[in-house]
This record gives sequence, C-alpha cells and structure tokens, in this order.
Amino acid sequence: MPQDRRILKATPHALARSVRQLRRGGLVALPTETVYGLGGDATRRAAVARIYAAKGRPAFNPLIVHVAAVEAARAIARFDARARVLAARFWPGPLTLVLGRRPGSRVPRVVAAGRETLAIRVPAHPVARRLLQAFGRPVVAPSANRSGKVSPTTARHVAIGLAKYVPLILDAGRADVGVESTVVDLSGRVAVLLRPGAVTREQLEQAIGPIASLDDEAGDSARASPGRLASHYAPTLPLRLGAGAPRDDEAFLAFGPAPPGVGADRMINLSATGDLVEAAARLFDALRALDRRQFSGIAVAPIPDHGIGAAINDRLRRAAAPRPARR
Ligand code: TXA
Ligand code: MG
Repeated sequence: MPQDRRILKATPHALARSVRQLRRGGLVALPTETVYGLGGDATRRAAVARIYAAKGRPAFNPLIVHVAAVEAARAIARFDARARVLAARFWPGPLTLVLGRRPGSRVPRVVAAGRETLAIRVPAHPVARRLLQAFGRPVVAPSANRSGKVSPTTARHVAIGLAKYVPLILDAGRADVGVESTVVDLSGRVAVLLRPGAVTREQLEQAIGPIASLDDEAGDSARASPGRLASHYAPTLPLRLGAGAPRDDEAFLAFGPAPPGVGADRMINLSATGDLVEAAARLFDALRALDRRQFSGIAVAPIPDHGIGAAINDRLRRAAAPRPARR
C-alpha cells in the first residue's frame, strides 16, 4: 500500500508537531491502549465543534475528556469516595468515569453535549500520556471513526475512515485492548455501567460494590444514555450472532476450535485457544477484514460473556442491530 503522509510514527518530533497542532485548535489522531482517538483541545469550542463535524456525530452524544493524571481530572470534575477508589485502582487505564462537572471548569459544557457531567479518563498508552503531558491541557478524544462505524485499532484504519478530516495521525502500532474503555456513571447515587470494556463489572464491583446496568430499572431511571444508539460499530454486511458455522455464502468470525471445512479465505479466528483478551484485541480489525462484498453476511461464533467477553458481545450485538436509514 502507498505511504500515507498523514501517518507519522510517534517520534518526539511528531509529538511536538501534534502539540503545536492542538495549540492551534486543530485535530490529531492519537493512539490509546483501547482504540485510536480523534483528539482536540477540550477547552476550545472550535476544536470541539471540529470533532463533532469530523465524526458526523449527533450533537446530543457527549465526548470523553482525557487528562494526564488524576489531579488534572479533579480540577474539572467532582470526585466522591467511589470515584477516588476507582481512579486510584484503574488509572491510568481503560476506564472512563462520568462525574459531576466542576462549576467554572475550563472545559465548556458543549464537550458534554450540554450536560452537567463530564466523562473523564487517564489513558495508559505511553504516547497518549506523553502528548497529554506536553500539551498540558485536557484533550477530548472520541474514537477516531465516523459516527456509527467500527472503531479504529490501527493508524491505517483512521486514515481510511477519516480521510479528509484529520491532517495528522500519530502511529504507535496496533491498540492493545482493542475495544473502547469501560464507562461508569458516578454522577448519581447509583453507579451505572454505561459501556462494558476491559475493566470488568466484576473488578468494579469488587472495588465499590454493586453497579446497576442500563437495562436494570435503577440504571435506566437513574440516567439517560446518550451514546447507546442501538446500531453502532457497524460493518456494511449484516451479522448473524451465535452461529455454529457459516452458511455457504457467509464469512465466519470464529472463536475457539474452528468448524471443519471452512477455508481461511473466508474465516478469521478471534482466538483459536479461546482467549477473550486476544479476541477483543482482534475484534474490530477482523470485522473490517471480513466486510467484503463477495459475502452475504458475517456469521459470528458464540463468545463467552464473562470478563472482557461482555464488551465483545456488547459491540457485536450493536454491530448486528438494525441500521438507521442512510442519509
Ligand atoms: O476507549 C475509549 O473510551 C476511546 C479512546 C479514544 O479513549 N474513546 C471513545 O470515545 O470510545 P467515544 O466518544 O467513541 O465514546 C464515548 C462514550 C459514548 O458512548 C458517550 O455517549 C459516553 O462515552 N459519554 C461521554 N460523555 C458522557 C457523559 N457526560 N455522560 C454519559 N455518557 C457519556
Ligand atoms: Mg466511538
């Protein structure tokens, strides 16, 4: 494939250029341990507006603010005991906390689509951390894909999906985790799991006690769920979940021992050994690779729902959901 001049290896020189770009109110795609993000200065409305436009994101869907350390998070949001415990245990890492926004915070409310809350995380990826430290301000960074599409786990995915919207993509190879951060809403009395991810429900509950789901009544009445559009992460082909084997004209996304007689030309195994962490890391890339016109759909093997399997199944269910009409 031809070299893409917007993709820069994350050298000190490229990081310095990225910081200048952010200072100008411009956008930079950056690697995180979960997926690649589309970053902009969280304190500048113009940068935030540029991100919504680049993603084609509905204006009601708020963004995640990324900071270099917990102190920076505490300057813009209110931490209660639960937030302190979770931040101490899981930051830096793939966990996003939805907290009350501090009045007078330098992060404008448009970041949270007008809500009184802020979603915040301290990413663990060394390049993301270096960029945040050097920039010295909070950075909003949704996943670097067009709204509703599959999240990017490589710099090339970003270049393909956001071609004309992002002038600079910092490349640090494949994202380790492969699915987006766990999102927990702590802005009310009941903690609510808004999005499953690599930090599992079991781990969270061990730290702060019971957590409601969006499907629970407690979770539902406690919080509206802006980002939970049913269809999301969608490849072009329809998905058929829980399939033992593909039909003749389907591609197959396998997990564990593959069914006999399915050729490598139409099958990708998320993990032949049944390792859920490995499967999560490969998920989005595999969905992209199998999304080819020659197939009628993608059949997907059943995936166990424990640990990070819950996040994999969440993304697959949404990829399989009926699509909104094309504009
Ligand atoms: O792993 C990740 O979280 C990646 C990397 C780049 O950090 N980012 C990411 O951002 O996935 P995005 O924008 O694609 O997803 C953010 C999710 C959405 O579902 C959004 O609705 C939710 O977080 N969210 C953001 N702010 C919120 C808020 N104030 N209240 C409730 N949900 C919020
Ligand atoms: Mg996203």
